[in-house]
Amino acid sequence: MDEELFEAARDVRLRAHAPYSNFLVGAALRTAAGTVHAGANVENAAYPEGWCAEPSAIAHMIAASVEKGARRIVALTCVADPIGGRPTTPCGGCRQRIAEFSGPDTLVHCLSPEGAGRTYTMAELLPGAFSMDKA
Ligand code: THU
Repeated sequence: MDEELFEAARDVRLRAHAPYSNFLVGAALRTAAGTVHAGANVENAAYPEGWCAEPSAIAHMIAASVEKGARRIVALTCVADPIGGRPTTPCGGCRQRIAEFSGPDTLVHCLSPEGAGRTYTMAELLPGAFSMDKA
């Protein structure tokens, strides 16, 4: 587990705007350049207009950087309450959003606010990911 990412995700989670679900999520990512960016879920009274914590963190990464390495996700930590005893994992849409800036070896740590959970690779979370990358 990456302590800096855990603390960033845990702290930003407490600033989530989630008055409809009351399900607070924080996400923090580390880039290949070593920078850390965090974000929380932002819900809306028109429910489908809300968005997840992961795209909030990705938007901060994009706003802060232009160099390729600074837009490459090497690890991402998601902090939320476990559901049914299982760690909360990124939703399907977020897996695709993370995949845009990561690779099969990118680590996704799914943790409770107490730090319990498990780590997945992107290859596990999104096998056969759609990509326009021809390399
Ligand atoms: N949520 C996230 O922020 N990330 C996920 O990966 C799963 C779900 C949010 C969306 C919504 O605000 C709340 O959790 C309940 O679905």
